[in-house]
Amino acid sequence: MNYQIIKPERFGRVELLTISRPASLNALNSAFFAELVDYLDYVVTDEPFDVLVITGEGKAFAAGADIAEMAGLDHEGARRFSERGQQTFLMLEDLPIPVIAAVNGYALGGGCELSMACDIRLASSNALFGQPEVNLGLVPGYAGTQRLSRLIGLGGSLKWILSGLNMDANEAYRIGLVQGISEPEKLIEDALALARRIATRGPKAVRAAKFLLRKGFDMSFQKALDMEKEHFAELFNDEGIEGMKAFLEKRKPSWEL
Ligand code: HXC
Repeated sequence: MNYQIIKPERFGRVELLTISRPASLNALNSAFFAELVDYLDYVVTDEPFDVLVITGEGKAFAAGADIAEMAGLDHEGARRFSERGQQTFLMLEDLPIPVIAAVNGYALGGGCELSMACDIRLASSNALFGQPEVNLGLVPGYAGTQRLSRLIGLGGSLKWILSGLNMDANEAYRIGLVQGISEPEKLIEDALALARRIATRGPKAVRAAKFLLRKGFDMSFQKALDMEKEHFAELFNDEGIEGMKAFLEKRKPSWEL
């Protein structure tokens, strides 16, 4: 597929994906979702790199779902619109590799929901987060009502979603929505540095750790521990042997097994 909106760029074992519809503040429209689904299919099938970083072009990460497109929907169309976004962001969340959102500006509504489907959020100091749907007489529809509370707790989520207020990067950091703040001109460099750091750890261990954290979160504690034990043991048939041997031999591990 020839992409018009998403722009992938490879940096070794890391890929940077830029959402590029700056005239609409990267509002998420149907064309964007079609491209993202195609791209995620390719990433799942080929796993051509180890960490994905997502950012936006211009002054927005994404200012939400495309309101001009949404305004034309009827009841059934709105259900499909929501479902398509939910499923696409689940695909993103379920990628076997880690995904970092480098939030460079507005992350509102569907844009905030997109960032929350990523594993880690780094924000530029001028980023603005929010779920302003109630200002439009709507509610979040790309899992914002569920992911925000899982990330920051129910009390804060009720405050932000019911008020439709935006929060700045410092507030987002204080409440744990973002995991770091960078000066705008350093954001991509910092996000790529974190991505490279992750991409040079044991690749199977990183994938297993993401899977355990993500899947274990909604499981019973005991079931999650059983799953953790199995994945821990599995790495002893594999790159864990090399990692520990390299430590004892005081050398860098070689993950090409
Ligand atoms: C469509 C959008 C848009 C959006 C901005 N634009 N956000 N178009 N959908 N979500 C367009 C504007 O219409 C304008 O187009 C251009 O981008 C620049 O925006 P301005 O408003 O002129 O910029 P500025 O004054 O800097 O204000 C920035 C802003 C404001 C505060 C971010 O644009 C804004 O409030 N946007 C809407 C934010 C929002 O409500 N998001 C949630 C959407 S609901 P023109 O052609 O006039 O230049 C949602 C639901 C998700 O996301 C779930 C669905 C199931």
